[in-house]
Amino acid sequence: MNELQWPEDITIKILRGQEMIPYLEIAAQWRIQEFKSFPYLYEGNMEYESMYMHECEENPEAILIVGEKKGEILGFTTGIPIGTMSDLLKSLRNKLPNADEYYYLAECIFSPTVRGRGFAQKGIKLFEDVVRGFGYKKICFLTVIRDKNHPLRPARYLDKDPIWQRWNYKKTDLVLEFPWPTIQADGSVIDFLNPMRFWEKDISVAIGNPLKSLASAA
Ligand SMILES: CC(C)(COP(=O)(O)OP(=O)(O)OC[C@H]1O[C@@H](n2cnc3c(N)ncnc32)[C@H](O)[C@@H]1OP(=O)(O)O)[C@@H](O)C(=O)NCCC(=O)NCCS
Repeated sequence: MNELQWPEDITIKILRGQEMIPYLEIAAQWRIQEFKSFPYLYEGNMEYESMYMHECEENPEAILIVGEKKGEILGFTTGIPIGTMSDLLKSLRNKLPNADEYYYLAECIFSPTVRGRGFAQKGIKLFEDVVRGFGYKKICFLTVIRDKNHPLRPARYLDKDPIWQRWNYKKTDLVLEFPWPTIQADGSVIDFLNPMRFWEKDISVAIGNPLKSLASAA
């Protein structure tokens, strides 16, 4: 485990593989709560989450970065190499000729009490530095595609694509479908095939000095 001290009494822990175990269940609870909303519409449960939790604890290159202040969790980022995942992202891995170069960013979630303070930007930068340190060339993730007129789209919904584009992630034309228990407009939940877009970023060249970026990250 690596532990960093950030200003304002914030502790950042970088955990790998089995070190993640104490945090996996709470990260799953956050995912279930957060991804219930548009655009994910994920009616999650611990049984479903346990597939990803199991993948993480078995994989020494899976990481969980957690920010805490006086024992209170402020946010999480987790990820796993695409090439070593077993079943969950098999269809994606099969589409990537150089899958071993990719590290998958599974999620980045911050507590609503600390959003808008730049933590995600700093957390993603730290994630990139750690993944680059493992020797991976690219970070990728998937975003859910929903119709602009989807009945569950909140009137004031803010599209997150511009955030990722500002951080130099590239939106690709690759779209795959993944099933999960999905909330429908009438409130029912069905195991639905959700279209997801593949995004990627080349991280092979560090911009700036990673150690300097860590020191200034808060
Ligand atoms: C998305 C999320 C991680 C951003 O965290 P954050 O700490 O508030 O982000 P930051 O303060 O670093 O802001 C980053 C940028 O995103 C913008 N932003 C923040 N939340 C946003 C949202 N919900 N929609 C659109 N833009 C948003 C900010 O204005 C900021 O833009 P800037 O760089 O031009 O200033 C946070 O809102 C969250 O946890 N959301 C729920 C989970 C989620 O959807 N995660 C992303 C997919 S895994």
